[in-house]
Amino acid sequence: MSLEEVSRLPWVEKYRPKSLDEIIDQEEVVASLRNILKTKAVPHMLFAGPPGVGKTATAHAFARDLFGDRYIDDGHFLEINASDERGIQTIREKVKMFARQIPMGGYGFKILFLDESDQLTDDAQHAFRRVMEQFSTTCRFILAANYSNRIIEPIQSRCAVFRFRPLVKADVMKFLKRIADGEGREVDDQALEVIYDFSEGDMRKAINILQASASISNKIDEKVVYRV
Ligand SMILES: Nc1ncnc2c1ncn2[C@@H]1O[C@H](COP(=O)(O)OP(=O)(O)O)[C@@H](O)[C@H]1O
Ligand SMILES: [Mg+2]
Repeated sequence: MSLEEVSRLPWVEKYRPKSLDEIIDQEEVVASLRNILKTKAVPHMLFAGPPGVGKTATAHAFARDLFGDRYIDDGHFLEINASDERGIQTIREKVKMFARQIPMGGYGFKILFLDESDQLTDDAQHAFRRVMEQFSTTCRFILAANYSNRIIEPIQSRCAVFRFRPLVKADVMKFLKRIADGEGREVDDQALEVIYDFSEGDMRKAINILQASASISNKIDEKVVYRV
């Protein structure tokens, strides 16, 4: 990507964490995932929690830390978004195509990430559970969901469940300040507090409000935020 293209990216993309080291809060989750990285014994996992708190980002960061920068290009990791493809048939085909190829680089398994997995119907979940069983020697599954209770029990019981929480105020404010600095914008603490209150600990929302505020004015105070 050229520098110009990077500068046009939405900030949520531009400042997306690349490694577990960059995941903010979620200490318990990150600590467990680090242990898993050490042993390389990767279980099936279910990431549960509200929107914008790092579930998708953590799945990618984990895979990059495990397989390296080329984790996608080298075929170690595939993301499927269940809200785009609710039909289990296409999911099954994709999973099969992916899992059928022998894992490369001596890892012994690949990772399939099913994002927004609570969007699948119960029937599709039962079918997916059979896919999990069928391919679990060569494929580990990471599922992300807003509500773990919308995931059928037989899938839950096959997964290590990781609970993601809303981010805390001080950490969100610090990160927003860093982004503002990186973008050459001035933002005061009151504005950051208001942004946090609107976001309710959802980092995606917080970053988007900051970027929208920045499009109104280079100097971001409380009044600017209220105009978003
Ligand atoms: N815990 C976090 N640490 C760092 N950045 C985060 C975190 N949570 C969310 N973000 C930011 O918000 C964006 C959306 O996060 P994402 O992982 O897609 O949320 P979720 O999948 O939980 O809805 C990410 O690109 C990242 O910039
Ligand atoms: Mg997500």
